[in-house]
Formats: sequence, structure tokens, C-alpha cells
Amino acid sequence: MYEPTTDDPWMGCNPTDLSYRNDPYPPLHHLRSVDPVNLTPLGVWRLTRYADVVRLLREVRAGVRTTAGSMPFVPDNDNSPQGRFMLQQDPPNHTRLRKLVSRAFTPRAVQQLKPKIDGVVARCLDRVADSGTMDVVRDLALPVPSTLICEMMGVPLADRERFTQWTAEATHGLAAGIAPPEVIERAMAAGMKLGEYFDALITERRSSLTDDILSNLIRAKDDEDRLSPDELISQSIGLLIAGFETTIGLISLGTRALVQHPAEVERLHDSPDMISSAIDECLRYDTPITLTPRVLHEEATFGDKTIPKDSIVWGMLAAANRDPERFPDPDRFDIGRQDNEHLAFGGGAHFCLGAHLAHLEGESAIAGLVQRFGNFELESETVEWGPSLFRVPAALPIRFRQR
Ligand code: HEM
Repeated sequence: MYEPTTDDPWMGCNPTDLSYRNDPYPPLHHLRSVDPVNLTPLGVWRLTRYADVVRLLREVRAGVRTTAGSMPFVPDNDNSPQGRFMLQQDPPNHTRLRKLVSRAFTPRAVQQLKPKIDGVVARCLDRVADSGTMDVVRDLALPVPSTLICEMMGVPLADRERFTQWTAEATHGLAAGIAPPEVIERAMAAGMKLGEYFDALITERRSSLTDDILSNLIRAKDDEDRLSPDELISQSIGLLIAGFETTIGLISLGTRALVQHPAEVERLHDSPDMISSAIDECLRYDTPITLTPRVLHEEATFGDKTIPKDSIVWGMLAAANRDPERFPDPDRFDIGRQDNEHLAFGGGAHFCLGAHLAHLEGESAIAGLVQRFGNFELESETVEWGPSLFRVPAALPIRFRQR
């Protein structure tokens, strides 16, 4: 239950607070009902109504940089690799960078990976089947996306132990302006380590190019000079991070929601073809990324407030996904929910490139779990969060019985 206090200028929705991370929905409901277009103490605006967030992402003139080309809260002389990832670019750079890798993520290309994904899931579940207990993160939610993105990119899986911590810490590079300075420093240090790692890998790969994403990025750089060396490193780091960090959140938070709703587990077990809508409901109900930022490229009016050009505006995805104006009975977890166009993957030009991949990985992992095991119980109601910026648990211990 959220009890508003008068002295909290963030109104319970400070993304760096543990209480928000634990359960952002009660304070987001409150914020939406009392001040849906809200100015934060940072000078950043935030939108909490579904219709407003959709307009921000898809309709108004906005980008991720100011009209002068600066990144919000980042000094113009900052040379860290984070700033060159496609997610930090406006057109024409964004269009060029996204196009270079988008072929690997089309629904058709991703569907061809299904046997591989199912195989990884089956091996994960075989390993824990007899014990009746598992840590969903360690045993399923982490190995599935990390194996897949490593294979797709051509990054040796054997190196996973080395970069799992770096990738989680590096996500805070996206939180310039809100995270404490020591967290940003750790993110920069992790980014540097990942940069050195990819530098060595790229040098080695150059002599044996294949058809993986890294080889294709190297070719793009060598052949047509479409990618600078820094851009090459940044796309590599960014894709590795994006490819597994948030999907750990989908599989583990989705499993937690199901375990907390045993009737939905049985419904899914009895009707396996509900898996696609079940994954959408997991993404809507409890999303790993609660907000996505934009910068207005012209003045825009939301509700009764007019926000000036070059203002930073956060689309509060988690609030939009529980907006009662859009989703009837929004706090109910219903794997058969119809008309479920949630915003967990953002929208517009930056709509998540890996959405089909993440969806398919989520389907395979959660379908596997529910078909083979039942009688799930959480070892603890409290989630211990990992070191990432996103809502990604560090561990999720559960008990189960084999069916
Ligand atoms: C459940 C898992 C995932 C969630 C919740 C998620 C969510 C998001 C969100 C919210 C954005 C920003 C969208 C916006 O600002 O409009 C994004 C962008 C992105 N995501 Fe994902 N993502 C997930 C998995 C993945 C995977 C598996 C990949 C594979 C590499 C991926 C690659 C990307 C990329 C490259 C971008 C930047 C796209 C651009 O700037 O054009 N994501 N994602």
C-alpha cells in the first residue's frame, strides 16, 4: 500500500529508490491520478497516462538528443562508448546504425532460432528437474538469453563469467543525471573493460570473419566505412548488454508473477497455445524497464501542460502499462488478456530491436517451465535486485514438483 508523504518531491517514484524498484505500481497509480504530467525535482518531465506516452514515443517531434545534438546530462566532451550506441542517436546516425544490424532481428530470422532456444531451455530444465528447487535467474533466465546473444554475435560463451557483472554495471551509463556519481563511475569503468574486451575480440575475428553480427559489423566498417571504430565497439557492447540484461528480467519477473497466480499456471499448462499472450501479459504486468527518455524537438502539450522544446520527458512505461483508461482492471494478471498492446518495448523509432527475440526466449523458457513442472512456490516474497539499472533480480529461488 502506498502512503503519499507531503515532503517527497518524487512522489514515491524516484527510479533510484529501492521501494520504487520493489513495487513501482502503487506510487505510479497515485502520480497518474494526481499529476499525470509531472515535473520532477531534476527538471525532467514525466508522463504516466498510456495515451500521452504513446504520443511522446510515436507522434510528437522528439528524439533522444537536444536539437543542438547534445545528450541530456552528459558533457559534450564525454568520449565514453555508451554515447555512440544506436539508442543514444537521432537520425541520420540512428537510422544508419540500426539498419546495419536489423536483419538479424527480423521476426523471420528470429523464428529460425527457435530450435536452438528450445534446446538451451530443455538442457537448463534437465539440470534442475530432480532437485525440486532452482534459482530461476541462475538456472534459466540468465543462461537462455546470454547463450543466444553470444551465439548470434559471435562472442565466446566461455567468457560469460567475465562480462556478466560488467554488462549489468554498464547499464547505469544510461542513467547520467539520476544515479549517484560513484555508480556512474562504476558504469564507466565497466564500459571501459567491455571496450577492451571487444577490441581484442575484434582484432582476433578480423582474420576469420563468419556470418555472425560481430563479423558483419566489422565488414561494414572495413568495406564501406559506414562505421567508425568507436561506433563498432559501442554497437557491440550495446547489443550484448541489451541482448541479455532485460530478458533476465522478463523470464524471472514473469515466472514470479505466474508463481503468485497458481490458477494462471494451470490455465497455461492446459492451454499451451496461450503462451504468446501470457508473455505479453508478463511484460505488461511487471516490466523490467519502467521508463524511457525523450527530448522534445518542438514544444508539445500534454493534458493541461505545455512543455518547452528541448525539455527531457520520461515516458513512464510501467505507469502506461497499468493505466485503467487503457487496460481494464490493470492490476489483474490475466494471461488471456485481449487487446494487450503494452509499452514494455517502448515505441517509435527506438522500439526495441530485440523484441521478437526476447518474446521468443520468454515463450520457450516459461512454456518449458510450466509444461514440465508445477506446484511452484517462491522461497521468498522479497526480491533481491541485481546490480543493473533495470528491474532485474539477482536471484529467484523457487520450489516445484515434476508433473
Ligand atoms: C524483455 C526483454 C527486453 C525489454 C523489456 C526491452 C526493452 C527495450 C526498451 C524499453 C527499449 C527502448 C525503446 C524506446 O525508447 O522506445 C529498447 C531498445 C533496444 N533494445 Fe530492447 N528490450 C528487451 C530485450 C532486448 C533484446 C533481447 C535485444 C537484442 C539485442 C534488445 C535490443 C535493443 C536495442 C538494440 C535497442 C535500441 C533500439 C534503437 O535505439 O533503435 N532488447 N529495448
